[in-house]
Amino acid sequence: MTPEEFRKYGHRIVDRVADYRAGIAVHPVASRAEPGSIKVHMPGAPPEDPEPFEDVLADVERLVMPNLAHWQHPRFFGYFPSNGELSAVLGDYLSTGLGVLGLAWQSSPPLTEIEEVATDWLRQMSGLSAAWNGVIQDTASTSSLVALLCARERTTNFSLARGGLQGEQRPLVVYTSEHAHSSIDKAALMAGFGRENLRKIPVDAAFALRADALEAAIRADRAAGRIPCAIVATTGTTTTTAMDPIEACARIAREHGLWLHVDGAMGGSAMILPECRDLWRGIEGADSIVVNPHKWLGVSFDCSVYYVRDPEHLVRVMSTSPSYLQTSADGRVKNYRDWGIPLGRRFRALKLWFLIREQGVSGLQKRLRRDLENARWLEREVRGTAGWRVLAPVALQTVCARHEPAGMTGEALDRHTLSWVAALNASGTAYITPALLEGRWMARVSVGALLTEREHVMQVWSAMCEAAASASA
Ligand SMILES: Cc1ncc(COP(=O)(O)O)c(C=O)c1O
Repeated sequence: MTPEEFRKYGHRIVDRVADYRAGIAVHPVASRAEPGSIKVHMPGAPPEDPEPFEDVLADVERLVMPNLAHWQHPRFFGYFPSNGELSAVLGDYLSTGLGVLGLAWQSSPPLTEIEEVATDWLRQMSGLSAAWNGVIQDTASTSSLVALLCARERTTNFSLARGGLQGEQRPLVVYTSEHAHSSIDKAALMAGFGRENLRKIPVDAAFALRADALEAAIRADRAAGRIPCAIVATTGTTTTTAMDPIEACARIAREHGLWLHVDGAMGGSAMILPECRDLWRGIEGADSIVVNPHKWLGVSFDCSVYYVRDPEHLVRVMSTSPSYLQTSADGRVKNYRDWGIPLGRRFRALKLWFLIREQGVSGLQKRLRRDLENARWLEREVRGTAGWRVLAPVALQTVCARHEPAGMTGEALDRHTLSWVAALNASGTAYITPALLEGRWMARVSVGALLTEREHVMQVWSAMCEAAASASA
């Protein structure tokens, strides 16, 4: 494609995205695609000869647009908000168009330095001290894997330079809450700890990790000859946005010599609001933190910021320096390849930088406060309506609710919940995701899409009431 053709089609695509976003509210929220219904319309083999780009764009209209699930829809209340503010989208376009790679500072100086500055801005916005250093990873899953690799290496005094974990005499143990995200299990497994050495600590009535149970588990492991290595605490669990007690975890980590990683993938964005910071009180006692600006904050997916207190340790664990990557600037600059797993890195910092500048801290704070207020409104409505129950504290923007018709319990209640949620989603009015809480299904309403105003929360609540009433009729 020539630059002139790119200009022509590029404008068309930007217009298409702008039109899509401007008119998004008219679409049914959930995708109506059936499994296999898209690929059946595509040739199984690639085209031998070039195709007109017009045909490709026509297929976008035919295959992509009608089959989307609309994450940016004002009545999208599923999973978690994955906001792509349009200024951040432009950052992504620019990053891809420039086509530069960060292999070393020298391979793309602005990529590295804007990443340093933008992650530091986010640090300041979140009220973290200057002791923290940030790096952008693709996802929280990767960030948590990096954290556990660093923990493993600190505890073993760099076993990777010897026989690795296989050379260790005693097993290393990781502790997390039974409500931690599945990415923590995956990270522990990928980092070689083994499922047997991942302790799921019970939670309290607010679904937060119980510090007393954590300490007891650590003592029991130590008494049994195992080596406690890392605690992963969560600020905003996926199911209920529960807040693990960071201060207590930090004290325990300090007293027992463990690494403390805080998974703030969802809840971390809330820390740009000073009034929320008490929710992770004690955070300065952690060793690493992950925050996902690609969730609620508004950076288009993917952009996960990993903060560490000891970047030298991180670099020692991750560093590789083959001759072809060495430059005369080494030693005076950050080479972010040494701060994570991939060698090549995209210019993700552009979208974070664009977002913060275009919205300003006050603009971002205003939107998040709006969402917190909207969630509290919904919580009050659910609490005040007969037959409905709020099942977990509403710490942030997620409301966990259940419609409980009189006398209905157990599996009948599960069938009822799944049936009215499915009916609501199939109606296209709104989209919510059911989840299991204490072994029973409930409806999780995750407020916080960019376009979600009070009226949309009122609409999802009416739709919930209608769907639940029809299912119990
Ligand atoms: C608490 C928490 N941690 C981690 C993740 C995983 O995030 P990512 O997709 O960036 O790996 C999620 C996503 O839902 C989450 O809610």
